[in-house]
Amino acid sequence: MTGVGHYLPEKIVSNAEMAERVETSDDWITERTGIKQRHFAAPHETAAFMGAAAAREALAKAGVDALAVDAIILATSTPDQAFPATAVHVQAAIGAHKAFGFDLAAACSGFIFGLSVADAMIRAGQVSNVLVIGSEVYSRILNFEDRGTCVLFGDGAAAVLLQARDVAHSGPGLLSTHLHSDGRLAEMLYVDGAVGQPEKSGKLVMNGREVFRHAVTLLASAVNEALAANNITNKDIDWLVPHQANLRIIDGVGKKLGLPPERVVVTVDKHANTSAASIPLALYQAVSDGRILPGQLVLLEALGGGLTWGSALLRL
Ligand code: ACO
Repeated sequence: MTGVGHYLPEKIVSNAEMAERVETSDDWITERTGIKQRHFAAPHETAAFMGAAAAREALAKAGVDALAVDAIILATSTPDQAFPATAVHVQAAIGAHKAFGFDLAAACSGFIFGLSVADAMIRAGQVSNVLVIGSEVYSRILNFEDRGTCVLFGDGAAAVLLQARDVAHSGPGLLSTHLHSDGRLAEMLYVDGAVGQPEKSGKLVMNGREVFRHAVTLLASAVNEALAANNITNKDIDWLVPHQANLRIIDGVGKKLGLPPERVVVTVDKHANTSAASIPLALYQAVSDGRILPGQLVLLEALGGGLTWGSALLRL
């Protein structure tokens, strides 16, 4: 992973501002979720626009020209259009004319699923330079009459560049990914409708209690899978970069894993839940402020609609 970039919409919406829109309060949101504010996109800040900005920064950080990119995998649940893929709009915007691109739908787990696909293509020798992007505009699918969901999400994008390298076993790179889905749990968290269904609301629907109940257990099991597969223990992990849905879920997984809060990256207070963008945004933050250092072992985990969930272990 040689470059990380990000984009956050200019408009910041505080909990107090949300309380002007729905019957809620800063206290309720803070206590139940840890969220203090979120970014909401302006009309021009689409998933493609934000994804392209994040990709440009990731390429600049890695010192790689857009023409060297072989593939663009863009994880989103809020694409600009049903097709063409948001990834090809990013391709055109950044001038990655030699790449192929496609979107990946795995809700909040999308970034980890994207890393896994990119890693497999690199190991197969199919590609050398892959952009994995998470870009989301959940503000467009929120039901602002449902205070139980609309206060939880925000917009944003982040991107990483993965490059093929011949490295020693302990060198930098993606060490493992573990992916899961259970479609029997689809009704727990979904978007009501699809393109061509004007009779549907097109808005996010969630059974928050049930999601919460499943989240800590499934996330902890995905994390344990990563530890076992790599023959390591929690003591070997330098940083946990979890999906940023809710501070109580993050704390719950951290505790189950025996990791002190000082080794867990938290951005949910500033960004709320940005779904597929949340892990790379948190990674960006902690790499940029010098917390995560080259050579350190970083564990990622996510759970989202599907349900989908998974983990990834990487050495920076
Ligand atoms: N402000 C004030 N009151 C609210 C709000 C709000 N924004 N939302 C709900 N309430 C009220 C409810 O109406 C209810 O009132 P009542 O007791 O008078 O009926 C009360 O608060 C409790 O509601 P619950 O839904 O039971 O609240 P809970 O403690 O379960 O917290 C929450 C809700 C924060 C959504 C919690 O269930 C949760 O965190 N779930 C995880 C969901 C999640 O993070 N999803 C993200 C997507 S999935 C993922 O990324 C992992």
